[in-house]
Amino acid sequence: MNPTIHSKLPNVGTTIFTLMSALSVKNNAVNLGQGFPDFSMNAELVQLVTDAMRQGNNQYVHMCGLLELREGLSKKIFDLYQSNINPDAEITITPGGTYAIYTALTTILQPGDEVIVFEPAYDSYIPNIEINGATAVTISLEYPTYTINWEKVQEKISPKTKAIIINSPHNPTGSIIKETDIQALRKIVNQYGIFIISDEVYEHLIFDQQQHLSILKYPDLLEKAFVCFSFGKVYHCTGWKLGYCVAPSDLMKEFRKVHQFNAFSCNGPTQFALSTFIEQKEPYTSLGTFLQKKRDCFHQLMKQTPLTPLPTFGSYFQLYSYENISELSEYDFAIMLTERAKVATIPVSAFYKSTADHKVLRFCFAKKEATLEEAANRLKNYFNALEDK
Ligand SMILES: Cc1ncc(COP(=O)(O)O)c(C=O)c1O
Repeated sequence: MNPTIHSKLPNVGTTIFTLMSALSVKNNAVNLGQGFPDFSMNAELVQLVTDAMRQGNNQYVHMCGLLELREGLSKKIFDLYQSNINPDAEITITPGGTYAIYTALTTILQPGDEVIVFEPAYDSYIPNIEINGATAVTISLEYPTYTINWEKVQEKISPKTKAIIINSPHNPTGSIIKETDIQALRKIVNQYGIFIISDEVYEHLIFDQQQHLSILKYPDLLEKAFVCFSFGKVYHCTGWKLGYCVAPSDLMKEFRKVHQFNAFSCNGPTQFALSTFIEQKEPYTSLGTFLQKKRDCFHQLMKQTPLTPLPTFGSYFQLYSYENISELSEYDFAIMLTERAKVATIPVSAFYKSTADHKVLRFCFAKKEATLEEAANRLKNYFNALEDK
């Protein structure tokens, strides 16, 4: 007799990113679908990893992460957010931001609990909740600003609500939370005793002189929060899969119990390298300006196409509407553009569990100027050829 699996995630298939990337390769398309930079990362940081390996730093590091790196992070957090974080008790290095979010959810959730999730949502949130036997209660962000309607949040809170996930700057829309959102969040979490999972992997990718409102800035919110970050997004090294979680010591103690018997510890040489490199402020303080230039360059190039940009204030994503061009669903339009214009994107409907189809596609602009130019030219030629017919 063979054993059988009762799937913990019966409704999960291949992700849209895998699907669109495969379609992109098949069609020799420019891939603006998946969110990763196609330019080189900092050579000095690469050298520091090589040095760490050559110096023999190749064994397990501390379960909570290299202390020197946690100390560096604590200093950085104080500089940026004037928050005193104890590196020993309140920071844990994780194998990426996604893992930090998963571990935080696993730490707090019991079967039957509910978690408020805003849609469109980063694709790991809902499976991470469901694998813990809990339910994601979804609320759509208001189209086309993708802002939070706090009255809807109030309506969806129940005695089972355990947590709320906030993501700012937001993937896939590039929206950011404002001081009014912080006030509304404060009211809700205080009234109902709810945890906050704050996904801040794009903390530095913020444009137009906007400020990133980190939960780390608000001691009363931080008391109830797991705040999650990714080195991959800061240093253009998504393949390193290294991140961290910041939480008050009582929450972190429980977080570490879950982490201890899962990854236990993370890649060592990259932590040694980062513990030195983190002292340099310029690489992260200049990131917003660097990516804003890319966003603006992409905007300029895309003016040659009939696609309409939606505002983006952060992250490295830009949404474009094709509402005036086609009746096709987002999914079909994205496939059609990959096959015919040879440019891969992601349909925003893929970030919803509920059905939504506003006729918008997500483009990643964390690419070399030549890549952005090539994509815009291909789109321009494709749409021009349609007009000539
Ligand atoms: C909103 C959001 N959270 C988390 C992550 C994951 O970060 P990491 O690659 O460090 O797991 C991503 C990556 O795309 C993201 O967009």
